Amino acid sequence: MQNIEVQASRKYTVQIGAGLLKNVGACVRAVTQAETAVVVTDDIVDGLYAAQVLDCLQEAGFRTLRFVFPNGEASKNLTVLGRLLEFLAENHVTRADCIVALGGGVVGDLAGFAAAVYQRGVDFVQVPTTLLACVDSSVGGKTAVDLKAGKNLAGAFYQPKAVLCDYETLSTLPDAIFADGMAEVIKYGAIFDRAFFDFLKENDAHAALETVIARCVTLKRDVVAEDETDRGRRGLLNFGHTLGHAIEGCSNFTISHGSAVGIGMVLLSRAAYRCGLTKTDCSGEIAALLQQYGLPTETTYTAEALCEKALSDKKRSGSHITLIIPETLGHCVLHTIETKALLPIIQKGMEA
Ligand code: NAD
Ligand code: GLY
Repeated sequence: MQNIEVQASRKYTVQIGAGLLKNVGACVRAVTQAETAVVVTDDIVDGLYAAQVLDCLQEAGFRTLRFVFPNGEASKNLTVLGRLLEFLAENHVTRADCIVALGGGVVGDLAGFAAAVYQRGVDFVQVPTTLLACVDSSVGGKTAVDLKAGKNLAGAFYQPKAVLCDYETLSTLPDAIFADGMAEVIKYGAIFDRAFFDFLKENDAHAALETVIARCVTLKRDVVAEDETDRGRRGLLNFGHTLGHAIEGCSNFTISHGSAVGIGMVLLSRAAYRCGLTKTDCSGEIAALLQQYGLPTETTYTAEALCEKALSDKKRSGSHITLIIPETLGHCVLHTIETKALLPIIQKGMEA
């Protein structure tokens, strides 16, 4: 088991280990004064893990409540958020109580945002059950729901009191969802850590989950400590995301987030090299590692379609856009360009 301390506006520990679900009660008891623990989860995770978590919270002396919503990104919206907030109020949950987010990134983002705004803030604990949530979304305090205009457009920075990552829960993940998380894992290696990238090449991540999750959480911890509210360096975590979001959008979200981010990393690395923005072409090595973990590396959408989608992203500011490009493998930098320069860059990346 490994404990990683996060030093943000709130300090907390990320516990990573096998079989930790049985410690949820003790973990929540150790970090809150709560009388009631509200388990928020989706309808798939509910059937798999909620009973164990609720039992364990009750054994630790909590009154427990459970709020379940349909799984998937479509639930990460103001309607479900409103239902959750009303549920908390109807059940007399107070500011002294605690929300336990049990699930993937959708559960963590929605429950975290509810915790941030309910009575101006109640404690919450993240219990991630997808690889993506273990390595990324449960750490760092970004919480949000989607608006009709786009993803994550309403949210708050609100750090959890603790993160309890039981990677045994990943054994029930469908292969495609595990692979999606691997795109984010590979992303950490490509942005920050060549040796970790090589580790993923030489080892099977499935058999080294504790090492893999702990390395990603440590890398994220460091960037969050430096730039909690995402004004600079934290933006590096968006490597592959500008084109990834465009690919997801063009496919009407039939291409998964991880697949799209992987393709985005490859395309932008190749484009950056061909445009003279970097001296090294990292695209081949990134593509090979993505393929090793069952992820695609090419798209059939045109450069024009991708550029139009990327520039319609509601979070993009004004006449400039910041790209994340690998100077070398394991060392990405932020590179701001005028929006009109984006199309020729994507076109270069897509040339045969
Ligand atoms: P998800 O939460 O939708 O989970 C994917 C699917 O896996 C769901 O159907 C879920 O029910 C199922 N599932 C979860 N755990 C399972 C388990 N152990 N066994 C079997 N099935 C399980 O998706 P995700 O990929 O975990 O998260 C994506 C979300 O995370 C997006 O909304 C994205 O915006 C957000 N995100 C947030 C941050 C952040 O910093 N807050 C970072 C990255 C992504
Ligand atoms: N997943 C991006 C971030 O936490 O900033």
